[in-house]
Amino acid sequence: MVDYGPTADAAALLARYDRPGPRYTSYPPANLWRDDIGAADLQRALQRVGRSGEPLALYAHFPFCARKCLYCGCNATVTRQARVVDEYLDDLERELDLVVAALGTRAPAVQLHWGGGTPNFLDDAQLARAAALYRDRFAFTADAEWSVECDPRLVTPSQLTTLRAAGFRRLSYGVQDLDGDVQVAIGRPQDEALVRRTVAEARAAGFEGLNLDLMYGLPLQTPETFARTLDAAIDMRPERLAVFGYAHVPWLKVHQARIDAATLPDGPARFVLWRLAVERLTAAGYRWLGLDHFAVADDPLTRAFEGGTLHRNFMGYTTMPASHLVGTGCSAISDVDGLYAQGEPKLGAWRTRVRDGALPVVRGWRLGDDERARRAAIMRLMCELALPVTALGDDADTVRSRLVPLADDGLVTLDEGTIRVTTLGRWFLRNVCMALDALLPARDAVQPWSRTV
Ligand SMILES: C[S@@+](CC[C@H](N)C(=O)[O-])C[C@H]1O[C@@H](n2cnc3c(N)ncnc32)[C@H](O)[C@@H]1O
Ligand code: SF4
Repeated sequence: MVDYGPTADAAALLARYDRPGPRYTSYPPANLWRDDIGAADLQRALQRVGRSGEPLALYAHFPFCARKCLYCGCNATVTRQARVVDEYLDDLERELDLVVAALGTRAPAVQLHWGGGTPNFLDDAQLARAAALYRDRFAFTADAEWSVECDPRLVTPSQLTTLRAAGFRRLSYGVQDLDGDVQVAIGRPQDEALVRRTVAEARAAGFEGLNLDLMYGLPLQTPETFARTLDAAIDMRPERLAVFGYAHVPWLKVHQARIDAATLPDGPARFVLWRLAVERLTAAGYRWLGLDHFAVADDPLTRAFEGGTLHRNFMGYTTMPASHLVGTGCSAISDVDGLYAQGEPKLGAWRTRVRDGALPVVRGWRLGDDERARRAAIMRLMCELALPVTALGDDADTVRSRLVPLADDGLVTLDEGTIRVTTLGRWFLRNVCMALDALLPARDAVQPWSRTV
């Protein structure tokens, strides 16, 4: 087991570093993007990429859920009608046709990820139809990776068989926490027995790489309750786990205000929970990858982390071998040829835009040379925990001076022309990246973030 430094050292640093900050799934982060980026910008970027013949990664967003979990930070909408989903698929088809027309070709694709919301809110026929929408329009490579997020409370063996037959090999279940009291406090009842059963069903259906999502920092969580959740999750032997710090941002996600703030663990208590997760999972043989992912030693994600080829984007950490990500479905984000483009997040407005025959882009960001270099540097630090100072170009001296206080605190070393995150610094990885961020001071005043630890 790796020693991640004395708890006391990190706990003392919490007071200084546990503050709002971006999660760097993009740079610049999405809440800074501008609304003067629109459909025409994405159209042109897609045309360029279509002509280049470079392979794509694809993301599809399915916003539907049976019930809203109180903590949810995703773009999710509650509905009870199958007809709404059928209409959504009609509109998704329209959007895909617009994307393919802009690409001007049946472009090569190496990855498809379905997220949400809850993709398995769709019934078997809808799942098969949605998969065909993508299969028919893109030239997937033989080893393309298809992955899907599912809610274990809704999943059925027949959905799993349908998804497997459609080509999905990787599956992720939202678990969050298995303690009954915590589940009541977050509005997500979910028996451990149900999770165990659906994990077994996923394996029986032939899914290879299973991921479970857990969260720390939830209301009423204690080290004792969370230890039980971690032990149960480990006992299910998923190949991967993501352990997200709960982002409590009720000013952005108003339903989160229904969580009693007095029941939330404070900064030091959150840290104890997070530390517990890292210790238990690494003791059980999982490797800690980047910020918040864990995987068994022979998992492709671990090999990518250790081989320096791990990537980070809106889906979190990925082995994604494509430089362009095309997002489809309401709220989906694209990252194409140096352009970020955010899809309309409101379902009705997204539908109207697509039916009017326009790519439904509402905002975005075109990266200049400096931002491209900074993005590459921040992503590399998030994925490899090390960075040659030369990667920062002309700005190396400024960044170095911003990193000196972090080096003095033992979070990074700055020897031999390399910025290296120490084992202690891993707890504060977002803060280290913030030192490379040129836009942060301006943004701090505008937008409060979730806490960094
Ligand atoms: C789209 S959901 C997963 C699939 C399915 N909807 C479910 O909940 O089972 C994506 C994941 O984001 C994480 N998540 C949601 N809201 C969050 C928040 N406020 N802070 C941190 N992580 C969050 C949860 O771990 C959740 O499993
Ligand atoms: S956590 Fe998952 S199931 Fe719960 S509301 Fe969010 S997207 Fe839906």
